[in-house]
Amino acid sequence: MSTEAERTLSGPALRRLISLVKQHTGITMEERKRELLFSRIRPRMKELSLTTAEAYIDYLESHKEEIQKFVNTITTNETIFFRTPVIWDYFGNEFLKNWSKNNPGEILRVWSAASSTGEESASIGMMCEEHKRSTPGFQYKIYASDIDTDVLDNARKGVYKARSIDDIRSRVPQLFHRYFINSTKADPHLCESVLGNIEYFVHNLHSRGTRTVFFDIVFLRNVLIYFNEPDQELVLRNIYASLKPEGVLIIGEAESLARLKTSFEYSKPLIYKRAA
Ligand SMILES: C[S@@+](CC[C@H](N)C(=O)[O-])C[C@H]1O[C@@H](n2cnc3c(N)ncnc32)[C@H](O)[C@@H]1O
Repeated sequence: MSTEAERTLSGPALRRLISLVKQHTGITMEERKRELLFSRIRPRMKELSLTTAEAYIDYLESHKEEIQKFVNTITTNETIFFRTPVIWDYFGNEFLKNWSKNNPGEILRVWSAASSTGEESASIGMMCEEHKRSTPGFQYKIYASDIDTDVLDNARKGVYKARSIDDIRSRVPQLFHRYFINSTKADPHLCESVLGNIEYFVHNLHSRGTRTVFFDIVFLRNVLIYFNEPDQELVLRNIYASLKPEGVLIIGEAESLARLKTSFEYSKPLIYKRAA
């Protein structure tokens, strides 16, 4: 028996949808992802009382205001606090210490470039606050962006999904109790001293950006995997142009720049430096 996705998201409709995903997010999807794609658009079909995927695609193509909702349903936003411990060791014990030594009196600028629901930018903020305890006068600003406006709305509030809260509470209890308000109650949220240093904004990594701010370090983690190789190179050129000359790039643990043509130099696993 065929599934609902197979019946309603037929070959031509599937290919149209895949092309719209690429057009609006830069994400490359394969036809074998039919079930996943259908499960993502299905809630919108229901809300709009549309019974076939084709009808939804027609709707999407004729209603500009649907595009952002489509983008928000298509993206995968999986994230947790302090994801991939090795990079947080590097950031806290090496990067921040060296940066402070080499840039006295300056403001550190960090970009969390696919920040999802905000756990990554909050983790950066907590590490910066920890660094401040031993380095009085240290100042930082975190810029956190995503293409999905729903996740950014969430992140701006400093409120996180229960799974993320349970995870940080058990893995890093000291930081959780130090930087979360209501940490022993049902509605913990990130304290203002961290949240106040984070600016959230919508940004598509495939676009060049404003180039008014240049960053000391960019976290570009667990997002390159969704793009094909030419698009990964394009995104990395955009990131390169946003970094300061000595800037550092951190990628996700399932990602590598090894096969790509980029201007980044390998430094250590998951960490690259902007080549001159
Ligand atoms: C799996 S999450 C990674 C979150 C976080 N960086 C981490 O490693 O835990 C991937 C995020 O990339 C965002 N994304 C996908 N395509 C994007 C694009 N073209 N521009 C900006 N963000 C994008 C998604 O909305 C999603 O929130």
